Amino acid sequence: MSEKTILKLQLPTDPNWVKNVVESNIEEILTDHAFCEQKAASNAITLIVQNPNLSDLVQEMAALVQEEMDHFKRVHDIILERGYVLGRERKDNYVNELVKFMKKGGSRNEQLIDRLLFAAMIEARSCERFKVLSENINDKQLSAFYHELMISEATHYATFIRLARKYTEGIDVDKRWKEFLDYEAQVIQNYGKRETIHG
Ligand SMILES: [Fe+2]
Ligand SMILES: [Fe+2]
Repeated sequence: MSEKTILKLQLPTDPNWVKNVVESNIEEILTDHAFCEQKAASNAITLIVQNPNLSDLVQEMAALVQEEMDHFKRVHDIILERGYVLGRERKDNYVNELVKFMKKGGSRNEQLIDRLLFAAMIEARSCERFKVLSENINDKQLSAFYHELMISEATHYATFIRLARKYTEGIDVDKRWKEFLDYEAQVIQNYGKRETIHG
């Protein structure tokens, strides 16, 4: 099964993004990538803080925080190995546009399901970007690293979808997920041009 079938993303990333943009600025992409991992960990912590009574979710998110911070550390190790220093956090316009799509009002359950699907969406697109990176980057270490991360982010995507299905109180998760996919397809059209993971 291709990752498109698994993740149902509607717009694949053009592999030229790696050749034309990423390879000319590895230092920039590594800094951006490190902060993507940090944000994934922060989002999992937010889910714990907002839903302390959902024991399975707390357990899964506690494990996820550790895994994402392990990814962060490994990216940081590569940054140091190559003689770079972690830069300042970059604005992630892609993620900010997805934030706008999350329900602000509504019931607690609506907000929970939307945050889970928001996280699933970012994991899905990150997984797709890592796949494109691992297949096209002319750098053996990074190719292997991104291949491994691709598998890990696919698992995270599945975790968030599973939690949404588990905790929904009458919200049609599949319908809402389709709305996220349609919205993301619009957003991502403007990306694939910059040296950031979602850029
Ligand atoms: Fe990660
Ligand atoms: Fe992840």
